Amino acid sequence: MTIYQGTAQALPNIALIKYWGNRDQQLRLPSNPSLSMNLAGLTTTTTVEFDPALMQDVLMLGGRAISGPGLERVSRFLDQVRHMAHSRHFARVDSRNNFPAGAGMASSASGFAALALAATAAAGLTLSEANLSRLARLGSGSACRSVPGGFVEWAMGEDDRSSYATSIAPANHWNLYDVVALIDLEHKSIGSTEGHAIAATSPLQAARIATVSDRLAQARSAVLARDFEALADVVELDSLMMHAVMITSSPVLMYWQPATIAVMQAVRQWRANGLAACTTIDAGPNVHVLCTAAAASEVAIRLRVIPGVRQVITAGVGGPARLIPNP
Ligand code: PMV
Repeated sequence: MTIYQGTAQALPNIALIKYWGNRDQQLRLPSNPSLSMNLAGLTTTTTVEFDPALMQDVLMLGGRAISGPGLERVSRFLDQVRHMAHSRHFARVDSRNNFPAGAGMASSASGFAALALAATAAAGLTLSEANLSRLARLGSGSACRSVPGGFVEWAMGEDDRSSYATSIAPANHWNLYDVVALIDLEHKSIGSTEGHAIAATSPLQAARIATVSDRLAQARSAVLARDFEALADVVELDSLMMHAVMITSSPVLMYWQPATIAVMQAVRQWRANGLAACTTIDAGPNVHVLCTAAAASEVAIRLRVIPGVRQVITAGVGGPARLIPNP
């Protein structure tokens, strides 16, 4: 009996310009374009094997068997791959992160990027980067940005075919760092899928979307010019605009904790005093402190002593999702 196997590694990404809200919830077509960088050293490694002997898909996350909604989401995703490969075989999926999942570290981005690459390889398919990015998007919107390497832009597109991410600059273009202040290591209560679905209930979402193209253009130019000062202001503004939408949604999504605000305020002060650092926050309480290479170790030292900061992780800019040898 033949068993078809593929193993891939992908990195999470941190959005400099945020994706929040979908035009089409099923296809995860975003309400706005976004820009991110991949995070080096934080990896999701996923092995998929399609096995004719299996009676259903099997999912292992970090060595633990997963059932219920987590397995259903992965099974629905694998249905897309089965459809493309004209296969009916179920799969065994073994996925591991080397960082905490579910607390704003975007494990779904690296997770679905790695799954898309491992599953298509296991099914004998070779997809272009654009098609792999589109496929990953169906699992988790931000996953489409973890397929290409370095600094990545997700153009909204008009439909399923045209909504995917491409690299605007490779990882070695700019030695930026993301020093992450982990404030809560628990799994978040309301995930981004539900969050996207209620974004439009906030009266501020329309204003955020009406102005995002300008912020994206500013952020893109700042990245291409390696201009940290220009990047810092627009990154903080865009993150705050997304959280303003979250806080004014129905139901309210308040991800911040007291330590989240303490870190934001400290970093603003540090920047005013000449340290090249700024903050951005995803759907969780952790604060991503973006900074230049020269500032990274000082930022990490200062973050560690802020009360409520449980752990600090430093990541540079990382490359694309890639296939690796099977275990
Ligand atoms: O890909 P999702 O559905 O987990 O959405 C990600 C949303 C944010 O992380 C909050 C913003 C972003 O652009 O990554």
